[in-house]
Amino acid sequence: MSDAPDPLLLDHEADGIRELDNQLPRWWVWLFNLTILFALCYLGFYHVWAKGDLMLAEYQREMEIGDAIKAKALAQFEADLATLVPLEDEPALAQGGQIFAQMCAPCHRGDGGGLVGPNLTDDYWIHGAAFKDNLRTIYHGVPDKGMVSWKNLLKPREVLAVGSYIYTLRGTQPPKPKPPENQAPANVPNIYE
Ligand code: HEC
Repeated sequence: MSDAPDPLLLDHEADGIRELDNQLPRWWVWLFNLTILFALCYLGFYHVWAKGDLMLAEYQREMEIGDAIKAKALAQFEADLATLVPLEDEPALAQGGQIFAQMCAPCHRGDGGGLVGPNLTDDYWIHGAAFKDNLRTIYHGVPDKGMVSWKNLLKPREVLAVGSYIYTLRGTQPPKPKPPENQAPANVPNIYE
């Protein structure tokens, strides 16, 4: 070892142990300084001059945007409802079948034969036989009679999918169906048949 003082070693010594002053790399120190600068700017912007939205306000604004998108989608669906035709593609019907099994079968039975809710496979309809009548009933429900309004529980696309699925159940004649509920056979012509 040379006699020249090691720049890394400090004068400080205790019991023969000497302290090493390991210089931090410059870039690291600047990065550290920048984080302090950032923190000061952040504090000033959000808390001192209150120029930006805090998390809660930001959340509320995004929720409002989301609500507006949802309201628009629902309004669009309501406007289009009368002209919608049953979907026939396999993925849509599979999705509709899954929704039916999960959400509707407890009241309408897995095969649509009816339990608490009416039989969906026969020609007797309480709220109209047309596809759009089914969609409207599913969407708005009949709360007084125990049929849930699915407007806020399913997306418009899902209402269309499950409506299309129950459309495929028409005329399937499941065993032990629920008898027609004292309604005259459908006199609303089904425009899709
Ligand atoms: C809590 C029980 C219940 C659930 C769950 C339910 N329904 Fe119903 N549904 C009923 C009842 C009860 C009626 C009859 C309403 C009436 O008498 O006006 C009905 C009526 C209907 C009708 C009209 C039938 C007609 O004769 O005009 C359709 C279509 C229908 N439901 C589809 C569905 C679909 C699709 C689902 C699932 C997304 C569903 N229902 C879930 C109880 C239910």
